[in-house]
Amino acid sequence: ADPLRLAIAGLGTVGTGVVRLLQENAAMLAERAGRSLEIVAVSARDRMVERGVDLSRFAWEDDMTAMAARGDVDVVVELVGGADGPALTLARNAIAHGKALVTANKAMIAHHGLELAQAAETAGTALKFEAAVAGGIPVVKGLREGAAANRIETVYGVLNGTANYILSTMEASGADFASTLGEAQRLGYAEADPTFDIEGIDAAHKLAILASIAFGSRLDFASVACEGISRVRAADIRQADTLGYVVRLVASAEIDHAGEGPALLQQVRPCLVPKSHPLAHVTGATNAVVAQGNFVGRLLFQGAGAGDGPTASAVVADLIDIARGDIGTPFSVPAAALVPLPAADAGHH
Ligand code: HSE
Repeated sequence: ADPLRLAIAGLGTVGTGVVRLLQENAAMLAERAGRSLEIVAVSARDRMVERGVDLSRFAWEDDMTAMAARGDVDVVVELVGGADGPALTLARNAIAHGKALVTANKAMIAHHGLELAQAAETAGTALKFEAAVAGGIPVVKGLREGAAANRIETVYGVLNGTANYILSTMEASGADFASTLGEAQRLGYAEADPTFDIEGIDAAHKLAILASIAFGSRLDFASVACEGISRVRAADIRQADTLGYVVRLVASAEIDHAGEGPALLQQVRPCLVPKSHPLAHVTGATNAVVAQGNFVGRLLFQGAGAGDGPTASAVVADLIDIARGDIGTPFSVPAAALVPLPAADAGHH
């Protein structure tokens, strides 16, 4: 079979991880995908950075958005980040040229996922973003495919590794917020703008995506009610401990039936979690997602929500799907038909 020809935009932690994974596991991937996965072109802001991977056999594009128009490319892999800017231009152009798009960009999908999904549907091509939610945890596929037979009643979890590292380190050491923040940033998981981690915005991006998949509802980032962890004090964590709780930044979504019609309730906020609950055992820069289905019961997904290896795993899993001919988007119903549930609560961001 013909190789699946890839263009990779963005060669930071995740991008170089993808290159390394594709190179190291090449033979196995070709066997599983039924064809080889071949990088044709790469692009990043700075060509001269030493990245520890051999890029010499790939074409270099100075203008990454030009990759969308290359005739020798089947799939554009967008790992640049940012809701708008070059990432969005590249994504739109790639789809318009009939290329499949694979992205790890949660901010872009949260803000523009519906538009991109509709464009992909019109163009008859794939839009995949497993890596955008909870990094290496296959939670998009898990909910869409694994729980396909269920009505999901609620989905919630710890979706930001940086915030969870801070909270669980404060818990273990008694340290205060300010001194733990610096440590978390040294881990390298923090967003370019760390307030996205601390104020819950990154978790809100991921939650909006997860909710739309879990409930088949319209992607609605604007209505996520969002409160971060910057006001959580060491004393709050001590007090919670005395009462049998830990504090976690919990992102949750459910359908609220209390009003006139069903409404989608999405929130990110620091919560008291009983020590016996699985989320209490999620420590460090880890993510976890709990979903309650009406036939399967409670599912728990846990693993690394960030980092090169885990996030690259999710990106390459999407590439295997595309190589096998699965060109759908992760939304369980056609994007054009997604049910617009009214928001139960307006966000403040
Ligand atoms: N800043 C994110 C986190 C990276 O800390 O979880 C993964 O999306």
